[in-house]
Amino acid sequence: DWTPDSFIETTIAELKAKLGDDKVVLGLSGGVDSSVAAVLLHQAIGKNLHCIFVDNGLLRKDEYQSVLDSYQHMGLNIKGIDAKQRFYDALAGISDPEKKRKAIGRVFIEVFDDAAHEVQGVSWLGQGTIYPDVIESVSVKGPSATIKSHHNVGGLPDFMKLKVVEPLNTLFKDEVRRVGKALGIDPNILGRHPFPGPGLAIRILGDVTPEKVDILQQADAIYINNLRSGGVYDKVWQAGAIYLPVQSVGVMGDERTYENVICLRAVESLDGMTADWCHLPYDLLAKISNEIINNVKGINRVVYDISSKPPATIEWE
Ligand code: XMP
Repeated sequence: DWTPDSFIETTIAELKAKLGDDKVVLGLSGGVDSSVAAVLLHQAIGKNLHCIFVDNGLLRKDEYQSVLDSYQHMGLNIKGIDAKQRFYDALAGISDPEKKRKAIGRVFIEVFDDAAHEVQGVSWLGQGTIYPDVIESVSVKGPSATIKSHHNVGGLPDFMKLKVVEPLNTLFKDEVRRVGKALGIDPNILGRHPFPGPGLAIRILGDVTPEKVDILQQADAIYINNLRSGGVYDKVWQAGAIYLPVQSVGVMGDERTYENVICLRAVESLDGMTADWCHLPYDLLAKISNEIINNVKGINRVVYDISSKPPATIEWE
């Protein structure tokens, strides 16, 4: 019978046999899969696992630091790279969603390749690929599509010539979470909502600027904190705030305002392929709306997305 403990024991033994004294480089995203893969590899080969965590400037508020801290707490050999400006520069003036994804994918590959070159004598690339990633053709929006289009133009970056080790490629998501729990990984990491690789860049409609990222991070943090304190975070498959490039008139004291709109999105889903919008309690929505409008400069209106997938998608871009 499959149990997390038996999986962990067998997998660690297999990884030890396969990798010996070889070095592995692995990109952490803060998500469940890469975190569980990293901890398994770390238990098998210790310091020979070199983790890389890139701050693309498009993560949730304070997420880079808190995730980096918890990885360091777990004893992982991890290098954090502040590449915010490189991503913002690459995104400047681009408003087409696919062009944004391509720019982000390209910069990520460059940053990751530079970091991987710093690991002397590395021969493996570790990945948190899970079984559904192996069997399903990845959505055209997915990061691997970005990587593929990059191949066609420039040839393979060096890290992609490494041998690949994917300790989770026989598991489903719920099994990954159970393995993560058995490994003692922070429940905050294991219970996280899915978050897209291009991050907040595809939740800012149109062109991305650091100022818009800052506004969206503030609104999103208020939203997510309220989902947590309201006890609904774990019932929601995925939630996030979206920055709309639309201004509307409002009133603040005696003054007329003309500011941007934040849209709140929350969906229930099993696999992200189809999704229903969540019927969040009205009083919770009211509290979130007030907090955002009263605290986030530049926002005077909050709306809630009541579209399901299909025909809408979960993300707006
Ligand atoms: P959609 O918007 O297609 O999203 O309904 C389905 C799921 O996929 C995530 N998503 C992405 N994940 N890179 C990613 O890593 C992407 O470019 C991307 N686009 C969408 C989305 O957050 C949802 O969980």
